[in-house]
Amino acid sequence: MTETNIILEAKGITKNFPGVLANDNVNFDLRQGEIHALLGENGAGKTTLMNIIYGLYRPDSGEMRVDGKPVIIHSAKDSIALGIGMVHQHFMLIPVFTVAENIMLGDETVKRGVLDRKGVAAKVAALSHQYGLDVDSLALVGQLPVGLQQRVEIVKTLYRDAHILILDEPTAVLTPQEADDLFRIMRELAGRGVSIIFITHKLKEVLAVADRITVMRGGHVVNTVTPAETDEPRLASMMVGRQVILTVEKGASEPKEKALEVKDFKVNSQRGLETVHGISFDVRGGEILGIAGVQGNGQTELVEALTGLRAPTGGAVHFDGQEVTGSMPRAMTEIGLAHIPEDRQRHGLVLSYTVADNMVLCDYYHPPFGVRGIIQQTALDENARRLIQAYDVRTPSPYVPVSKLSGGNQQKVIVARELSRPVKLVIANQPTRGLDVGSIEYIHSVIVKMRDNGAAVLLVSAELDEIMALSDR
Ligand SMILES: Nc1ncnc2c1ncn2[C@@H]1O[C@H](COP(=O)(O)OP(=O)(O)OP(=O)(O)O)[C@@H](O)[C@H]1O
Ligand SMILES: [Mg+2]
Repeated sequence: MTETNIILEAKGITKNFPGVLANDNVNFDLRQGEIHALLGENGAGKTTLMNIIYGLYRPDSGEMRVDGKPVIIHSAKDSIALGIGMVHQHFMLIPVFTVAENIMLGDETVKRGVLDRKGVAAKVAALSHQYGLDVDSLALVGQLPVGLQQRVEIVKTLYRDAHILILDEPTAVLTPQEADDLFRIMRELAGRGVSIIFITHKLKEVLAVADRITVMRGGHVVNTVTPAETDEPRLASMMVGRQVILTVEKGASEPKEKALEVKDFKVNSQRGLETVHGISFDVRGGEILGIAGVQGNGQTELVEALTGLRAPTGGAVHFDGQEVTGSMPRAMTEIGLAHIPEDRQRHGLVLSYTVADNMVLCDYYHPPFGVRGIIQQTALDENARRLIQAYDVRTPSPYVPVSKLSGGNQQKVIVARELSRPVKLVIANQPTRGLDVGSIEYIHSVIVKMRDNGAAVLLVSAELDEIMALSDR
């Protein structure tokens, strides 16, 4: 390979946040038409580096070249002009707009004073056809499945003539089928000369789709390798700096009495359609019941209705012999439920509160945290320090707003809080989404330990590996 096909080069990039050196003299380059995977443990600095390349953050020092020319990128507008497009982990689309309207947003084409909807629809259809994206420009975005919404984001970048594409954890919310479709599209794009940076925590995906792999840890680049010269265990240890056990160690379960009994349970979706059609099951203390399967088949509604976030439309739920159908979340917490919600930012955290406060959201009014209505700061501090250490939460201190943490570290705050309380039932929905292999290893071991101590566990996961490794039934 010659120097000339390097399309993007970041050299000596350094970025400090208060108390955190997020990027420390990072060198990264991207070749034309390659898929370059970026791996690294939670908080390693991946998103920060991408936000710098995309112009959302300014580096403290370092330089960038695009097509060999030095550039200074002040904003996303600058990076779009340079042909850089980014698909963020949380989509930025407007649900009530059509696909074409979303794509035009911020780049409206006007013909004689009116929006040129026809022209846009034609260009979108052409792009969609060219890359096999299969996107209908007249569909309402809010009614599309997640996988298609993501393609809309990709078309949006191509519409703006992006030839450098940044995908930050695009597969975290996709079904395996949708992920395979995305890989096909990525290869198609790369074949036509688009250069792609692909962030993920899934090592199998990296080995299957990447041309080169760069691993970051603690703000540094550890190494850049090709799939041919590495494998899963080696990537895992490069990421976290130690050996990771990729299989779960657990003994046979010893099921006890029924903790959760669900009968003829019916739940409607947000749009009023019945998505849970009268299901019945139970979970005993000391066992893990796994619910596998593709998202969008009622799992979200089922878990929300069991944990008090949504009212069921029929059936009954018993917890520890007591009827709890339609109880409020606090009531469920009080009788011994731990819940790891699917949407961490909406249901798991108060983003503006500190890490320490988020770690006691369920029991701040009980001893040792609340005594006669007064918050016991020392107990709160001790709790936070203990959990930060145990779960390896990367944060400059317990007192920063949890919104400042990387995505995976936000997830660890929820898991630490929920799994550190003495509970009888754990309902975990996608508990390890967005977590690095080291953290997944630890959290799996905690779930198994809770089971061994007699808790009933209902595990919902789109990760087949996770279901197979943890479930007793
Ligand atoms: N806006 C911010 N203010 C303060 N600190 C920040 C900010 N953004 C990121 N950080 C810190 O910088 C570090 C790197 O974060 P970054 O989001 O780049 O990690 P990441 O590698 O993307 O992790 P993940 O896999 O969890 O998404 C983290 O320790 C984080 O707390
Ligand atoms: Mg990130």
